Amino acid sequence: MRKNSVFIETYGCQMNLADTEVVMSILVSNGYEIAKELKEADVVLLNTCSVRENAEQRIYGRLGNFKRYKETNPNMVVGILGCMAERLRQDLVEDKKVVDLVVGPDEYRRLPEFIDKAYGGEKGIGVRLSRVETYDDIMPYREDGLQAWISVMRGCDKFCTYCVVPFTRGRERSRSLESIVNEIKQLSARGFREVTLLGQNVNSYLDGSNDFADLLAACAEVDPLIRIRYTTSHPQDLSEKLLLTMAAHKNICKYIHLPVQSGSNRILEAMNRTYTIEHYLHIIAMAKEIMPGISFSTDIIAGFPGETWEDHLATLDVMQKVKYDGAFMFKYSPREGTKAFKMEDDVPEEQKTKRLQEIIDLQQKIAAEINQALTGSTDVVLVEGTSKKSDLWWAGRTDSNKVVVFPYREGIKKGDYVTVKVVRSTTATLIGELVG
Ligand code: 5AD
Ligand code: SF4
Repeated sequence: MRKNSVFIETYGCQMNLADTEVVMSILVSNGYEIAKELKEADVVLLNTCSVRENAEQRIYGRLGNFKRYKETNPNMVVGILGCMAERLRQDLVEDKKVVDLVVGPDEYRRLPEFIDKAYGGEKGIGVRLSRVETYDDIMPYREDGLQAWISVMRGCDKFCTYCVVPFTRGRERSRSLESIVNEIKQLSARGFREVTLLGQNVNSYLDGSNDFADLLAACAEVDPLIRIRYTTSHPQDLSEKLLLTMAAHKNICKYIHLPVQSGSNRILEAMNRTYTIEHYLHIIAMAKEIMPGISFSTDIIAGFPGETWEDHLATLDVMQKVKYDGAFMFKYSPREGTKAFKMEDDVPEEQKTKRLQEIIDLQQKIAAEINQALTGSTDVVLVEGTSKKSDLWWAGRTDSNKVVVFPYREGIKKGDYVTVKVVRSTTATLIGELVG
C-alpha cells in the first residue's frame, strides 16, 4: 500500500523549524512519508507565525494558492500548525474553507489522529496549551548535515507588552538536561558540527538544580568538534555565571543574540522588558571584558506606542555603543490580545518607516565597519560547502557567525575546520585565503 505523504512549509522563528522536525518525527513513526515537493503530497501542513501582522498576511496568501491546488486534488488535506493555529483557532476553519485542521504547538502528538479524521471529512481543532509538554522523548527527524536546532525549553513567561508568544506558546517549561545531552551525542555520531540550543528565553532554563549555564557546559563537553550556539537570551536574566561558562569552553561560540528592542528606558518600561538600558550596557561591558572579541546581535522595534523622536535617537545611540554584528529590525505591529494592543498606536506610519530605515542604514554602516576592521585578521572557519554563487569558492562560518568565502582547494571537505586570513570584505561576507 502507498504511504500517505506529507509536505510541511515552515514560517517564522527557529523554534518553528525545530517543531517541524518534531512533527515530521511523529508523522514518520505513524507511517507517513515526508514529501520533497508539494505536488507529491496528500497532506500539506503550514507551520505558522503570528509575531507580526505581515507574517500572518503571507500565510493567508499561501492559503489562497492552496485553494486552487485543492480544486484539482480535492482529497488533499490542508492543516495549520504553530502560532496562528493557537491564536485564531476555530476562526481559521470557519473563515478559510480550505483549512481542514488547526493544531497548536502543544498538541502535535495528536496530529495523526486529526489527519485521519480529516480524511473522513471531519475538521479537527487541537489548540490546548500544556504546562508540561516538551516532546522530550521524541527524536526530531533530521536529514544528515552539519547544523542542528535543539529546542531546550518551550513557552515564555515574560509577557513583553507587544508580544503574542506567551499566548501562542504558553508557559515556560524546560526539557531534561539528560535528553538534550543524549541528542547531541547522537548528532555527534552522525558527524554534525554545530548545534543551536533554542528557547524563547533560554536564561530561564531549569532542570532540577541545573540552570542554563550548567546545560551549556554539559552540551559543550559532549564533543569538542561540535560548536554550541544558543538563542534567545533575555537581558534581565543573563548571568555572569553564563558568561564565565562561555569563556571556559572553546567550542561555545563567542556570540550572543541579546534583543534590546529600544534604547529608551521609558519605552523599555512600556514594553515591560524589565531592564534599563544601563543594565543592558553593563551586561555587554561585562561580556566584552570576560571574552574580548565577542560579538552581539539584537532585535529592534521601531515606532512602539508613545515613541518620540528622542526615544528613537536613544535606540540609534545604543547601536553606536554596542556595535552589533547583526540585527533583526522591525516596525511595531499591534497584536490583538497583547497589552500594547490597548495602547494607542500613535506613531504615524511614515514615521515608523523613516525610523526603521534610519536604524537599518546605521546597522549596515556598523556591520561594514566591523567587517572592514577584520581585514588582515585570521580566524577558524567551519567549512559548510561550496559558495552559493560559485563552485570555485568554499564557504563557511566563523565562531562569531560571520560568513567567510575562500578559494576552492582540493583536500578540504564540508565539516572541516580551517584557518583563514581575511583579505577584504563586503557588508555581508568576508573574503579570505587559507593559511597553511
Ligand atoms: N511588532 C514588531 N516586532 C515584534 N517582535 C515581537 N513582537 C512584535 C510586534 N508586535 C519582534 C521583537 C522580538 C522578535 C522575535 O520579534 O523584536 O524580539
Ligand atoms: Fe516575546 Fe518577550 Fe517572550 Fe521574547 S521574551 S518571546 S519578546 S514575550
